[in-house]
Amino acid sequence: MKEHPITGGIAAELSGIDLKQPISDDLAEALRDSLARNLVLVIRDQFLDVDQHRRLAEVFGPPAINPYAPGKGDHPEMTSVIKEASERTGVFGGGWHSDLTFLEKPPGGSVLCAIQIPPYGGDTLYASQQAAWDALPEPLKQLLDGRDAIHVGKPYGVKWAPPVEEQSMKGSTKRNDPEADKERFHPAVLTHPVTGRKGLYINETYTMRLDGLSEADSAPILRQIFQHSTLPEFCCRLRWSPGMITIWDNYSTQHYAINDYHGHRREMRRTTFEGDRPIREWA
Ligand SMILES: [Fe+2]
Repeated sequence: MKEHPITGGIAAELSGIDLKQPISDDLAEALRDSLARNLVLVIRDQFLDVDQHRRLAEVFGPPAINPYAPGKGDHPEMTSVIKEASERTGVFGGGWHSDLTFLEKPPGGSVLCAIQIPPYGGDTLYASQQAAWDALPEPLKQLLDGRDAIHVGKPYGVKWAPPVEEQSMKGSTKRNDPEADKERFHPAVLTHPVTGRKGLYINETYTMRLDGLSEADSAPILRQIFQHSTLPEFCCRLRWSPGMITIWDNYSTQHYAINDYHGHRREMRRTTFEGDRPIREWA
């Protein structure tokens, strides 16, 4: 396996591996080690079937079911992420976020396989929240380190539900769930268990306020952090091709799906895996 960094701060492309074949213990260890250091992995031309996809996710942790977009039939852990050519709505995953941070136990990461890719557009951006933490001004570091942030599942709840015409994946996504309106406390800063690097764990889709501060007092601080945490220096932008896979660390990155391919169909298949952070809620 060869590793080719994509930027100075996040993501590497891997070559010389065939993930359709059984994954040896050595390869599994190399993949986990590479993900810990690079946070996003890209592997092209793999064309995995559902079982091979699941087996790859199991390298990183037990597969998790997305309670708001479960897969159909025998594979509830496999979510189809589809935007039809005729859809004019927003896109699933548009807006900067880490996945499902309003859950008690958010997913540790995802394995996303490209099935059908539009002729242009549909790229995904990722931002290293470790790079964002490193570059954060010291007074903000002091404010955040050791503090919880409060997350709410706004797109899936009742209180802050978006207008129906802006909702993506309407047929297959659970909405208006009062559970999603509940406040979840997670550390605002997470430490990676392998590398020891700290990273921000705050995102504009789900983070409502900081513990100990009102929503109004949190707002200007959060706005500054949201802007800072996705600066171009911390990001990579991936162009997809059919059969390509990305794997990401959901606790150390944010991502953004670009919705610029109206009139073209895009289909991805995704499974998440359980992680080992944030730890406060898990005791
Ligand atoms: Fe996402």
